[in-house]
Amino acid sequence: MESKLNLRILPSSPCELDFAWYELIRDELLRRSVPEGLRVLDVGCGTGEVLCMLSAQIGHGVGIDISEECVSKAKSRASEIGIANLQFKRAGVLDLPLSSVGFDVVMCLGDVLSSSTVYGKQGQALGEMRRVLAEDGLTIYEGMNWEWEYAGSPLWTCFSRTGKGRFVLHRIRRTPSGRETERTYDVAPDSPLHEWMLDQDWPVSPSGHQVSLDVVEEEPISQRWLRYRGLNRYQFYTARSLKRLYSKAGFHHVEVYAYGQTYDIVSKAGLLEGMTDGQRAALATAEANLVLKQRTGSGPWLFLLARK
Ligand SMILES: C[S@@+](CC[C@H](N)C(=O)[O-])C[C@H]1O[C@@H](n2cnc3c(N)ncnc32)[C@H](O)[C@@H]1O
Repeated sequence: MESKLNLRILPSSPCELDFAWYELIRDELLRRSVPEGLRVLDVGCGTGEVLCMLSAQIGHGVGIDISEECVSKAKSRASEIGIANLQFKRAGVLDLPLSSVGFDVVMCLGDVLSSSTVYGKQGQALGEMRRVLAEDGLTIYEGMNWEWEYAGSPLWTCFSRTGKGRFVLHRIRRTPSGRETERTYDVAPDSPLHEWMLDQDWPVSPSGHQVSLDVVEEEPISQRWLRYRGLNRYQFYTARSLKRLYSKAGFHHVEVYAYGQTYDIVSKAGLLEGMTDGQRAALATAEANLVLKQRTGSGPWLFLLARK
């Protein structure tokens, strides 16, 4: 049964804040991990947000994306801000139109390797990224931590797009006995969350749904749910499976970190809402320290660093 969640009356919905929080930490992790002055490739760059954010600290950046629309948005973004050291072009990760060993850092962020366009060909995608990476170059992956999001936590949230521009938020709960229950909510058309959804460039599944989480192979229970939605050509990752995948592709020193601790999204949202920007930034710095220095992070997102 579909219930309505009018996010207009919740301008700072927990979900929205949770994503804002995730982006804050991700930016911090990236700023610290990408060394200064180098040549950086962003594979599946979307609308170029990350490269623009890093533009001041890198030497030269190239963003490629399979979506023409994303590439043109990325170009406009960079030129509007007046960034000169970035280039964007349309290309797919399975066949990069780039010469070998040309980049010091290759990033692949935001579940690109879960996309249906690379389903079953992740090894080929990683082979391409490795080819264009300089000897001993750094590769960075970031995406959902399926283990935590779903199996490790009783609640999983994702979005789908139904019909023209309508979004539905799914909250799937797994009971201790393993049974799954799902509640869906309409996202109000003029809510901030809806605007945010429109701005995302998640791949569209074969059934036409657009999903935030590109999923699954190893999780037997959710397979049924995903197949039902036509999402069976998505791959999800756990810290273990991701490490295996990168090692198999020939990368060394593979380190996988989990981050974005959200024990209780609602109370965290309450806390974040009451903070100034400076306080939020300090919190993000603290979490990035825990993840990269203390290696004690946990949470719904994975961050991988590896060397060629
Ligand atoms: C969830 S978005 C992530 C965007 C950006 N990397 C970020 O983290 O903000 C996934 C992106 O991967 C792109 N993508 C999907 N399949 C791809 C492929 N085979 N080659 C290149 N890009 C691809 C999509 O067009 C989309 O822009």
